[in-house]
Amino acid sequence: MHILIGGGSGFIGSALTARLRTRGDKVTWISRTAGPGRITWQDVERGDIPPCDVVINLAGQHILDLRRRWNDAFIHEVLHSRVDTTLSLVRALNAMEHPPAAFISAAGKCAYGTGEVASHARYPELDESSEPMGIDFPAELVAQWEKAASGIDSARIRHVAVRIGVVLGAVDRTSTLGKLWRVGRAHGFLPLIRLPFCLGLGAVMGHGRQPVPWIHIDDTVGVFVHLIDSEETRGRYNAVAPGVVSNREFTAVLAKRLRRPIVWSAPAWLVRAVVGQDRASILLEGQNVKPKRTLEAGYSFRYPALDGAMADLVRITF
Ligand SMILES: NC(=O)c1ccc[n+]([C@@H]2O[C@H](COP(=O)([O-])OP(=O)(O)OC[C@H]3O[C@@H](n4cnc5c(N)ncnc54)[C@H](OP(=O)(O)O)[C@@H]3O)[C@@H](O)[C@H]2O)c1
Repeated sequence: MHILIGGGSGFIGSALTARLRTRGDKVTWISRTAGPGRITWQDVERGDIPPCDVVINLAGQHILDLRRRWNDAFIHEVLHSRVDTTLSLVRALNAMEHPPAAFISAAGKCAYGTGEVASHARYPELDESSEPMGIDFPAELVAQWEKAASGIDSARIRHVAVRIGVVLGAVDRTSTLGKLWRVGRAHGFLPLIRLPFCLGLGAVMGHGRQPVPWIHIDDTVGVFVHLIDSEETRGRYNAVAPGVVSNREFTAVLAKRLRRPIVWSAPAWLVRAVVGQDRASILLEGQNVKPKRTLEAGYSFRYPALDGAMADLVRITF
C-alpha cells in the first residue's frame, strides 16, 4: 500500500512509518518541511495529493511542550496545527476523483473531558460511545479537531477516528545529567517526566486518584496498523491499554523501574503554576477510558498491563 501520514516525522508517526516500511508499504509524510519522501501542506492545499490507499493525520503542535509559554499565540498554534491540517486534507481528499480507501484521523483521550469525582467514588468507565465527563480546554480542542475530520466524504472514504491515550516510549536512565532530560524531538510522556524521577523528585500529581489512560508505543502503532488492515472498521476507536491505572499507581511503577523513591506529591497549585491552568487538567485530571471497540475489532494488546510495558520501556544504563 501507499500510505500518506500527516505529521509522520513525529514520535508516533516515525514509529508507524518504520513498521509499515518493514512490511513493504510505501510511506510518504505530509510535513511543514519539503524533502525526499515528503509532500508539504502547501501541496495538500493545492490538491496535489499522490495516488494512495490510506491517509492518516497525526500533525499537531505538541501541547505539553514545556519549552513554550502557554499564551494566546501558543494556544492558537496548538489548535490550528490540528484543525487546519485536518480541514485541508478533508477538502483535498473529498475533491479527488479516485480518493484513498481510508482516512484515519487522530485525536486524544482528552476528548472525554474532566469532571468532579468524589474522593470515595470510582471514576466512571468510558468507552468509544461515552459522552465527555465535562468540557475543559483539552476537550474543547479535541472536539474542534474531530469536527474538522468529520467533514470527510464517508460514503466514498472509510473514516476511522482514533482517540489516543498517553503514549509511552522508551526511556533510559543514564549517568550523564545533561542526557537525562532531552526534550527536543524525544516526544512522548516518559521523557518529559524522566528528569524529576531520576533526581528522586518524581511525584504523584495532585490527589493521585486520577486515571492515566496510557498505551505502549508498540501498541499505538499496532492499533493503527490493525485499523488500516481491517477494512470493515469505521468510526471511533480508543488507543489506550486495557489496564488503565491511577496516577499514584503509574508513579509507583515508574519509580520502581527507575529504582528511585517516591517521597512527595506535587500539589495541584504547583502543577498549575508550572504547566499553566488550561493544560494542568491533562496531569491533574484523568479519564477511565477503555478500548472497547478496539478489542471488539480484534486488536490484541501486546502490553495490556503497565508493569510489562514499563519493564520493556525503562532501561537503567548504569
Ligand atoms: N504522544 C502522545 O502521547 C499523544 C497522546 C494523545 C494524542 N496524541 C496526538 O497524536 C498526534 C501525534 O503525536 P506525536 O506524539 O507523534 O506528536 P509529535 O511528535 O509532536 O509530532 C507531530 C508532528 O506534527 C507536526 N507539527 C508539529 N507542529 C506543527 C504545526 N504547528 N503545524 C503543523 N504540523 C506540526 C510535525 O511534523 P513536521 O515537522 O514534519 O511538520 C511533528 O513531527 C498529535 O496530534 C498528538 O496530539 C499524541
